Amino acid sequence: MPESPGGGDAGAPPQTTGAENPQSEQTAADKGEADPPVLSKNAQKKLAKQQRFEARKAEKKAAAKEQKRRDVERKRKEWEESLASVPEEERAKLLESRRSLRKERMEIRSQEKESKRERLSIAREQGQNVVVDLQFSHLMNPNEIHSLVQQIMYCYAVNGRCASPAHLWLTGCQGEMESALKRIPGFDKWIIEKENGSYIEALRDRKEDLVYLTADSETVLQELDLKKVYVIGGLVDRNRWKGITLKKAQEQGIQTAKLPIGTFMKMSSSQVLTVNQVVEIILKFLETRDWKTSFFAVIPQRKRCQSDSEGNAEDTIEKEHEQNDDLTATSARFGGLPGQANLSLFVT
Ligand SMILES: C[S@@+](CC[C@H](N)C(=O)[O-])C[C@H]1O[C@@H](n2cnc3c(N)ncnc32)[C@H](O)[C@@H]1O
Repeated sequence: MPESPGGGDAGAPPQTTGAENPQSEQTAADKGEADPPVLSKNAQKKLAKQQRFEARKAEKKAAAKEQKRRDVERKRKEWEESLASVPEEERAKLLESRRSLRKERMEIRSQEKESKRERLSIAREQGQNVVVDLQFSHLMNPNEIHSLVQQIMYCYAVNGRCASPAHLWLTGCQGEMESALKRIPGFDKWIIEKENGSYIEALRDRKEDLVYLTADSETVLQELDLKKVYVIGGLVDRNRWKGITLKKAQEQGIQTAKLPIGTFMKMSSSQVLTVNQVVEIILKFLETRDWKTSFFAVIPQRKRCQSDSEGNAEDTIEKEHEQNDDLTATSARFGGLPGQANLSLFVT
């Protein structure tokens, strides 16, 4: 039997597709390692397609970065030339106006930071509680842990920008995962709950309010209830460990629910989303109280069925461009996220 996700908590054996090799997963799990299972031909094709997509995106990102560098250089030159071409008195004025513009921008930034702290502090008292369960790090390889850390950074950034953010919890913060999180600049100042113990321990008085979100649940989530605490599996596994969160929740005797994706859109493959997509959908739903809007705003076009364009393909493409710009802005705010070609490429 594979080791349970919580290293002692309830766990589940991975269910494999027909062509996968359950034996290899079992052995890896028995050893406490996270060896990738043998992939079926179909899965290999999918993986190769995804890798080509990622490579293309990475190339595009590198080109955009180079273009940005050239633009900055050009602007710097233009500025120097314009300074050199004006008399001394005019030059002083230009320099002064640039200085005050910078000061103004810095003031705006610090006001934004302050108001974000305020919003997050209010959310701590009265916001929707959302837990990311980090008790799966032993089931992920270093790349997957890296991806999860970036997804968490992204969740925190997006949440901070919301008018009414959620209150985020990171539970089961230990070992590899904890070290990786601690390496995030400013992580110690994040306004979240960080718990070394599991959510079951941290929220022992509210066990009946816990709802584990899992694509494998039979229960379809209809609404978000402020009194409930929604738990998301902190796992990047390309669904190698299918059903693991459902089994864990069932064994712990806590409620489960899946997002009502099928009611509003057709997906090109499974309905299993990444951690950051689930968090974003929750945040969008808190803002709009509308699942359809939330799904279409967050789930990328490539994950949806071709025909499912909500009647206006241009609109959707537009939204995606906006979203990608948004992701780039988030990345920039973090000073860039090292090693991540494109934040919109997070894998499940
Ligand atoms: C990449 S998925 C992990 C999949 C993993 N094999 C499992 O069994 O949960 C990350 C997490 O996002 C949440 N999630 C993903 N898709 C979901 C959906 N359609 N409905 C509800 N939760 C979902 C779940 O909490 C899940 O554990």
